[in-house]
Amino acid sequence: MQGNEHRVDGLAGRKLMEALREFDFGVAAICGGMCSCATCHVYIDPEWLSRLQPAEPAERDLLAELRHARPNSRLSCQIDLTDALNDLALTIAPEE
Ligand code: FES
Repeated sequence: MQGNEHRVDGLAGRKLMEALREFDFGVAAICGGMCSCATCHVYIDPEWLSRLQPAEPAERDLLAELRHARPNSRLSCQIDLTDALNDLALTIAPEE
């Protein structure tokens, strides 16, 4: 749900957005991972942020358009889950 912290575990090989949808955490992901809707926007716990692969330009451009963007914003459809990200902590961003 938006505003609550969640932890994601045991889903290496999937996109973070897919895991959030599977857990019914309130991520709409309307574009299905095409990096065009931003309805998969999350705030990554700062302790985890540096462990993610950096955002590509398309993701950065879309995040720059969001009212609720923060320095720890990411689009969850652009994040590949790995074993190193087990227990990743994040908060679902509010709808735009
Ligand atoms: S699902 Fe649309 S931008 Fe991530």
